[in-house]
Amino acid sequence: MTFPIYLIGYMGAGKTTAGKLLADKLGWHFVDLDNAFHEIHGLTPADYIRTYGIEAFRRKEKYVLEDLAELPIEKVIYATGGGYPCWEDNMECLKELGTSIYLRWKPEHLAKRLSLTDLTERPVLQGKTEEELLAFILPQLEAREPFYAQADIIIDAPFETLDENNDEQLAEYLCQLIKSRTK
Ligand code: S3P
Repeated sequence: MTFPIYLIGYMGAGKTTAGKLLADKLGWHFVDLDNAFHEIHGLTPADYIRTYGIEAFRRKEKYVLEDLAELPIEKVIYATGGGYPCWEDNMECLKELGTSIYLRWKPEHLAKRLSLTDLTERPVLQGKTEEELLAFILPQLEAREPFYAQADIIIDAPFETLDENNDEQLAEYLCQLIKSRTK
């Protein structure tokens, strides 16, 4: 397994929440690329998209990730933005830079998880009910799946029902996986 590690997947997959817990468990650095985008460009991805549109955001987002990859630190867990892998050659870049891990969830579970978050930070989802979220997620996830599926490792979130421990359990699962592959 090569480092750093890039967590990819749809919004609500736990890239940030489980990713941070994972980095803590491993004693590694954690970088949320949406936060890095905010720090570098002075606007959150949500505000940047509202102001300049999605294409402009994608162009900038690409360079944020590639610039950070120049840092001479290997033991990093990166949480990528949900749409990052599906733009231009981004998935190929990720695979060259380190190990990509796709956190795959059932669409129903993503809709439920997202409905419990503050959607103002996700402009495309803002104002949607859980049912509307699912209707939005299904076609977009289908379109994104071929990109996500190119990940080096695919983790199917092993949960039949959702509860507040899911991200912790996912982080522990990822931690064991990474440790077993880096011995
Ligand atoms: C996006 C996901 C967001 C953020 C932006 C666009 C997307 O990141 O990058 O709002 O198109 O899926 P998260 O997946 O961290 O929410």
